[in-house]
Amino acid sequence: MSSEDQFKKIISHAKEFGFIFPNSEIYDGLSATYDYGQNGVELKNNIKKYWWLSMVQMNENIVGLDSAIFMHPSTWKASGHVDAFNDPLIDNKDSKKRYRADVLIEDHIAKIEGKIEKDIKKARKRFGDAFNETEFRSTNSNVLRRLNEIDIINNKMKAAFEDNNLEAIHDLIVELNIVCPVSGSKNWTEVRQFNLMFATELGSVAGDASTIYLRPETAQGIFVNYLNVQKTGRKKIPFGIAQIGKAFRNEIIARQFIFRMREFEQMEMQFFIQPGTQKKWYEHWKDNRMKWHKSLGFNDDELRFHDHIKLAHYADAAADIEFKFPFGFKELEGIHSRTDFDLKQHEAHSKKKLRYFDPESNENYVPYVVETSIGLDRMFLALFSNALNEEKLEDGTYRVVLNIPAPLAPIKVAVLPLVKKDGLPEKAREIMNLLKIEHQCHYEEKDSIGKRYRRQDAIGTPFCITIDHDTLEDNAVTIRERDTMKQERVSISELEAIINEKVNIKNLFI
Ligand code: GAP
Repeated sequence: MSSEDQFKKIISHAKEFGFIFPNSEIYDGLSATYDYGQNGVELKNNIKKYWWLSMVQMNENIVGLDSAIFMHPSTWKASGHVDAFNDPLIDNKDSKKRYRADVLIEDHIAKIEGKIEKDIKKARKRFGDAFNETEFRSTNSNVLRRLNEIDIINNKMKAAFEDNNLEAIHDLIVELNIVCPVSGSKNWTEVRQFNLMFATELGSVAGDASTIYLRPETAQGIFVNYLNVQKTGRKKIPFGIAQIGKAFRNEIIARQFIFRMREFEQMEMQFFIQPGTQKKWYEHWKDNRMKWHKSLGFNDDELRFHDHIKLAHYADAAADIEFKFPFGFKELEGIHSRTDFDLKQHEAHSKKKLRYFDPESNENYVPYVVETSIGLDRMFLALFSNALNEEKLEDGTYRVVLNIPAPLAPIKVAVLPLVKKDGLPEKAREIMNLLKIEHQCHYEEKDSIGKRYRRQDAIGTPFCITIDHDTLEDNAVTIRERDTMKQERVSISELEAIINEKVNIKNLFI
């Protein structure tokens, strides 16, 4: 199946099984805006829970925050977003389609990387077990030529962005013979900057109104509260503040389902540190966050780091954790060494001191910050697309199964009486009541047991409990496991402990 078809399947499965619906669908939808359905909201909440547990609960020096979406307009002047939160856009004069200029160049680089991967695949096939990829990458003339080509493009792009030289970006697109994917032509406009913040007005009376912005990142809510938290929480550096919340960006190209939306959710953590220690903490958080992703069962070859060429206006080092989405490797999370840029800017604009007195070194300084910032919706898409599988069964039929890690599954247990008579529903209800205080459970008595198992497989329910006629005699039920489809008879008295153990979020830390 082509990756495009695979992606279409993911989108239609998400809709069919109540994970994600197009927003305002009865009015034909609103572009790049989606709603999470009955199963989607559970999965999303479980991802948040795991992130919060890993970042806040498990780290004694990290605390949470929930700041407002609206902030004083000076916040965004200070942070640089009013002047510099821009995307370079370019239009194709024939198709009238608009693109991000840097994305056009990055897609071109991705094509060259694709050719390198093809060369490697071919060589692996030719040399078999004797193939050494590292050696091949460092000696094969084709690969070396292509890597050099990528370096040259990256250097040109970096220099152009550093000088804010939009003409040079345009010239690079022309030089690389990049064509519009729709019209196929190279008839490009000049490159222009486009601010991504949504503006609105505060106050109901015209004239009283002043422009405010929907926050484009949650981080600034943390920066402006840093001293409140430090003082009231008696925090010593290094310490972190974490928050989960909505962010808004007027994206030029909002596409690829929930990957790039105009309204999305971020899970961000700002770690306040002593100046000079930023390299150490930057490496620490890169490593920590990569381990977090790997704990969710992704394969090593589905995740990679990508160092930023075009650094954001606030960063002295930045890397993305990229995930292999069905449309290729793309950013899932950013780790940024933000220096003291934000706090110093807020000091300057607010005229309030945002310094920290370090009792150990007797120093007074504005802390440096290392940030981890992950898109919740992208994390959802990564987990969902990775988990959706079609399996051929022994009898030649297929089943669609969502192999979500059990602690994150929307529904943990489905309780299924074999038939809807003979006292089985009543017994099943007793089991529902036993389990539902701890876990999201689902009760269903309609259709054959096989059909009900398939429906639960498709939404990723890790355990189905079947109540049959013997249950009334022996007080035992059958637990059927989603991934192996193995069935086990267990006593009802042990059920709670077994399920608690199997879906425990602690298992993700092991
Ligand atoms: N505070 C830093 C910051 O916002 P970013 O790299 O612009 O950094 C962080 O965004 C993360 O937010 C990204 O790695 C991505 O997962 C998510 N994100 C950014 N723009 C998004 C969009 N339009 N739709 C969905 N997620 C987005």
